[in-house]
Amino acid sequence: MKGKNRLLAIIKNIAQGEYSGEIMELTRDEFPDEIRDLAEAVGLMMVKIEAREFYLEQLNERLRENVLKTVTATANALGARDVYTEGHGTRVGAYAERLAKRLGLDEDEVRTIRIAGILHDIGKIGCSDRVFTDENAALSEDLLREIRQHPISGFDILKELDFLGSALEYVSAHHERPDGSGYPYGLKADQIPFGASIISVADCFDAMTTTRPYRQGKTVDQALAILRKIAGTQLDQALVEAFIQEISENGPEFDLTGP
Ligand SMILES: [Fe+2]
Repeated sequence: MKGKNRLLAIIKNIAQGEYSGEIMELTRDEFPDEIRDLAEAVGLMMVKIEAREFYLEQLNERLRENVLKTVTATANALGARDVYTEGHGTRVGAYAERLAKRLGLDEDEVRTIRIAGILHDIGKIGCSDRVFTDENAALSEDLLREIRQHPISGFDILKELDFLGSALEYVSAHHERPDGSGYPYGLKADQIPFGASIISVADCFDAMTTTRPYRQGKTVDQALAILRKIAGTQLDQALVEAFIQEISENGPEFDLTGP
């Protein structure tokens, strides 16, 4: 029967998830009634399946967004303990996103990097209050150890959220440095995930330009000059250059006058 083999081939393709408009060609007058009826039924079924898949995708997307909002709200609870880091995650996420876009990374990766940027310090929730109240925290060996643990704590907090994908390793590696002097693992340049290196640059810039009660934030120019100085050792050279171009061309975006 004319069109039978073609119809079977199309149905096999549909069964494998390959939808095309080819089925509609078999509904033309030149084909026998049986083939046309079958093609119409299969076409209708295909449209319904596609609609269902689209709905499920949207649902999945909404679920992800909601989980992300919940996790972000938890991260913001960190801001409640330390008002001076409030907004830090959001800003780092936004800077990291801009840098990732500038580098031409694909949409999914840009999104992953933004999410990791927002959540990068979530492990600080596990730190004792002294970390937030002691200005000289960096001088105490105990506190230093605690602070150095926060990328791993962050990874542990988030690891069950499998949709975060590689954002998890970006969180755990955001304090690693190209020269190997970072923490927690002392990874070297090519061992550090690219997304983590992007977040490091954004993190440094935001930390420097944020005003705290005991320290006036640096100006954009001062902060960029420091980034230039530590490029190649503490931060990835090429990423710093791209970031400087991005900020020079499009500005810091946020109000840096501080509280
Ligand atoms: Fe951090």
